[in-house]
Amino acid sequence: MRIDIISALPSLLESPFSDSILKRAINNALVSLVIHDLREYGVGKHRQIDDYQFGGSAGMVMTVEPIYNAINKLKKEREYDEIIYMTPDGGRFDQPMANELSLKKNLMIICGHYKGIDHRLREHVITKEISIGDYVLSGGELAAAVVSDAIIRLLPGVLNDESSALSDSFQDNLLAPPVYTRPSEFNGWKVPDILLSGNFPEIDKWRHEQAEARTKQLRPDLFKKNQSS
Ligand code: 6GU
Repeated sequence: MRIDIISALPSLLESPFSDSILKRAINNALVSLVIHDLREYGVGKHRQIDDYQFGGSAGMVMTVEPIYNAINKLKKEREYDEIIYMTPDGGRFDQPMANELSLKKNLMIICGHYKGIDHRLREHVITKEISIGDYVLSGGELAAAVVSDAIIRLLPGVLNDESSALSDSFQDNLLAPPVYTRPSEFNGWKVPDILLSGNFPEIDKWRHEQAEARTKQLRPDLFKKNQSS
């Protein structure tokens, strides 16, 4: 898979991809992630990428031309399955959307700033709009990093335990069961006996019961979704 991210603040995207699982995925060529500085497509001597909005009101708007040119340059090099715009008024990102996007070949992600991008880009070039929740961030970069992380960890070979992405919270609309490791007792706090029993069918059953109980208690909305599917 290839992910191209277009951003006016590319340095915000450096650290999420330079450590741990995501870094390894990139180094092992399981994904290629390319960050493009929108400023390079800016117009005029000052490489302008934003302007005052028509009709008045506070806040700058990102102009059509730099984003349009950046997108077109990339589109000439390959075909994109989606051209995604990160925006708080987009469709809500969730695990099913991450699963679906992880099956694509080429994704482009546009990060907005200020009051957002000129609406003509959304009408004519953007194919999908994503929000990561009902709150406003100062730009799309952190949201793009969240979405990329959720996608990349699903790609084959990225997690060393192949089954572990499937047992995540949300993959089956259930929260994950509690986990423990050594020591089996600390400060008098004991690990549940069942996990030390070696009885794996019973352990599986216990984990499933715990997952259901936690979902019912902590996320009744998810639990209802589960019962109706
Ligand atoms: Cl995708 N962008 C911004 N700026 N704020 C957000 C968001 C995206 N998702 C939630 N809040």
